[in-house]
Amino acid sequence: MSATSGSFHIDDKTVEFPVKVGTLGPPVVDIGQLYGKTGTFTFDPGFMSTAACESKITYIDGDEGILLHRGYPIDQLAEHGDFLEACYLLLYGELPTVAQKADFDYRITRHTMVHDQMNRFFSGFRRDAHPMAVMVGCVGALAAFYHDSTDISDPQQRMIASLRMIAKMPTIAAMAYKYNIGQPFVYPKNDLDYASNFLRMCFAVPCEEYKVNPVLARALDRIFILHADHEQNASTSTVRLAGSTGANPFACIAAGIAALWGPAHGGANEICLRMLMDIGTVDRIPHFIARAKDKNDPFRLMGFGHRVYKNFDPRAKIMHKTCHEVLNELGIKDDPLLDVAIELERIALHDEYFVERKLYPNVDFYSGITLKAMGFPTTMFTSLFAVARTVGWIAQWKEMIEDPNQKIGRPRQLYTGAPSREYMPISKR
Ligand code: CMC
Repeated sequence: MSATSGSFHIDDKTVEFPVKVGTLGPPVVDIGQLYGKTGTFTFDPGFMSTAACESKITYIDGDEGILLHRGYPIDQLAEHGDFLEACYLLLYGELPTVAQKADFDYRITRHTMVHDQMNRFFSGFRRDAHPMAVMVGCVGALAAFYHDSTDISDPQQRMIASLRMIAKMPTIAAMAYKYNIGQPFVYPKNDLDYASNFLRMCFAVPCEEYKVNPVLARALDRIFILHADHEQNASTSTVRLAGSTGANPFACIAAGIAALWGPAHGGANEICLRMLMDIGTVDRIPHFIARAKDKNDPFRLMGFGHRVYKNFDPRAKIMHKTCHEVLNELGIKDDPLLDVAIELERIALHDEYFVERKLYPNVDFYSGITLKAMGFPTTMFTSLFAVARTVGWIAQWKEMIEDPNQKIGRPRQLYTGAPSREYMPISKR
């Protein structure tokens, strides 16, 4: 295959396809005409070798452990910027100037409240509902409250819907938490930054003053930056597929939240912490490591491994540091869970099974410990991920809608079911 074209031999036919080369990463063979030219489909369940779209937003080199947003390395964004700066970058493609940043912060802040009738919408849920179940429902329901930003053909409406979702997602997540624990909702306070506001909406109560701890706010802001976007992962691809039908943006993001919930994706942070609790003490680790290696046991070491990173997840490196900052700030030294986590990390980084398969601790391994120390219950972990990922979903959705060549996503299949057969009336079966 040359850099500009590739040929396939199918039966006795040879067909040429163009090869497209991106700025970074492997080239792709454009096989859009394959069926037309040969009557054949490609077969790639799990998208192991398939680029489903062209994008300018995020680049990952899993072998080298690189993550870039609009070309900027994630560690630089997390070190020097804040979450709303990362949001601006993902949405508009460039880092903001001082004036652009102030204007963006202001616009997000003005959209933090949700329609007051949504308060009553919440009370339809059981108190013990999982916050992700509440979020899927409430975010989908935003389309019923904000009719003036559902016309996807209008760029202005698209932008208002985008800002609304970035602004309201923390409010909805905090409301889901407050409802769950039986406390009154805390309205957003617009003189606080994004992360501080979220901490206050989650942990303040009307009868006491709440003082935001700046170390925790900074750590949460960093967690948000690290989770803001991650290229064409399962939830983002879900958002793109839903959006390709012309569905309104609130419905598309609700679909993304649903896909994120799974334990192989965003749900891993919750399951990872539960696993650390199940292990309980360091002496029980070998038993769990043996289970993880046993091919007849479906148990996996949660928080380890990644479909794309076959090197240290660059987000995990930053999360590791943030985790220790939070634990120091809160004076947590003798947490048995932390002992288990540190020992598990040590074993996994040296054990042949994990080294050979390149199963490094991923971002969820450290974020779970950090969020627990901050006071979040495990059931809230994936909701926090959803708050952060909203901007990535929106940026990818906007990019797709604004692409003049955009088509409805419609995968094909290899059918292995029954061939055509005659219907048998029920009396004769
Ligand atoms: N524990 C034990 N063995 C594992 C693990 C694990 N966590 N992950 C993969 N393996 C083994 C797997 O059994 C297989 O072994 P073998 O080659 O002997 O059959 C090999 O490693 C390759 O596994 P795979 O399933 O082909 O890898 P994948 O790229 O399809 O899976 C993954 C990626 C993230 C689903 C998987 O590593 C996993 O289930 N990890 C635990 C869940 C987790 O932490 N997910 C969060 C990912 S980070 C957040 C996000 O971006 O969504």
